Amino acid sequence: MKKMIVTGGAGFIGSAFVRYQLESYPEVHIVNFDKLTYAGNLENIKDCDPERHTFIQGDIADRKAIQAAMEGCDAIVNFAADTHVDRSIMGATDFIETNCTGVYNICEAARELGTSHVLLVSTDEVYGSIREGSFTEKDAPGPRNPYSASKAGGELIALAHFETFGTPIIITRGSNTYGPYQYPEKVMPLFITNLLDGEQVPLYQGGEHNVRDWLWVYDHASGIDTALRQGEPGQIYNVAGGHERENIVLTRKLLELCGKDESSIRLVKDRPGHDFRYSIDASKLKALGWMPTMDWETGVAKTATWYRENEAWWRPIKSGEFKEYYRKQYENR
Ligand code: NAD
Ligand code: DAU
Repeated sequence: MKKMIVTGGAGFIGSAFVRYQLESYPEVHIVNFDKLTYAGNLENIKDCDPERHTFIQGDIADRKAIQAAMEGCDAIVNFAADTHVDRSIMGATDFIETNCTGVYNICEAARELGTSHVLLVSTDEVYGSIREGSFTEKDAPGPRNPYSASKAGGELIALAHFETFGTPIIITRGSNTYGPYQYPEKVMPLFITNLLDGEQVPLYQGGEHNVRDWLWVYDHASGIDTALRQGEPGQIYNVAGGHERENIVLTRKLLELCGKDESSIRLVKDRPGHDFRYSIDASKLKALGWMPTMDWETGVAKTATWYRENEAWWRPIKSGEFKEYYRKQYENR
């Protein structure tokens, strides 16, 4: 793989994957194709060597634009998506446009161009919630919110493409990812930056014991890379952090790291249809040689330190578009 197009590569996980590729494979040139929605940020990729990294602003829902950008690339890795569950509950039109139509466009362009590697990054949320045990790739999708339904829709379109046309699709389903450069709408950076600002954190009431499985962002990047290079077309690979924690446990850890006590928690009305627990089994990917490296305590502490030391990154975000979103989302809740 000499020329790889990464879509959504200016977002949180996509930019980590781009850095991972540039550091791990000296022969790779990256074409980074991103619409720069509210979640895309050129600051995330500002250190990428321009000799080996070309940025194109574009929309995967625009068939001509994505196909033109894919020409000459031997691999595509798609991160581009609308990703925040609470925003999808406010309205899911953009989610369907990007997460379904955009994925279909990538499949069609790959078929026409004969792209040899097509990896679509998906999520453990497509399985839905599980009280006990862990989902394997053989379990059927059962998404329960507009975001995860749109991701499952994209997956089904892509898997049908593989069956019908032989397009070499590989899908990864990652668990809750955390680390530097995550947009502060997601729970970890939201809570850390609120605490650094001396504000309360909006913990969903009734969701205190809901469970998420935390995956360090560079472990997610290496998991996707393993699936891309060692995986088989038509296959799905779970990428699990292996660190399941209740939301209240995460919240208390963040309070401790930021020197705050429980008076900094504000219990707010729960998310409608709040999935109780995500849990996936990553044995299939581990059999290809992948292992996550980060333990949870160290990863969360590193994340809190990064936000403490990089206020210049998140301050403009929190005082921009995010401010209005936060007001709508949390006022009177
Ligand atoms: P993010 O919201 O931080 O970034 C998404 C990026 O996609 C942004 O740069 C945005 O500008 C770009 N984008 C959005 N719509 C686009 C379009 N139509 N065309 C081109 N670019 C577009 O997302 P993230 O958290 O980095 O997630 C990346 C991928 O990983 C997504 O597919 C998501 O579903 C999946 N995923 C995320 C997590 C998680 O915990 N964050 C876990 C598992 C899987
Ligand atoms: O599981 C993978 C998924 O993880 C990804 O596919 C999604 O793109 C990503 O957003 C994430 O989804 P979640 O809904 O699990 O993440 P979020 O950070 O929004 O919420 C994590 C938990 O924290 C969830 O149980 C809800 C709770 N929460 C979240 C927010 C934003 C709160 O209690 N208060 C909050 O303000």
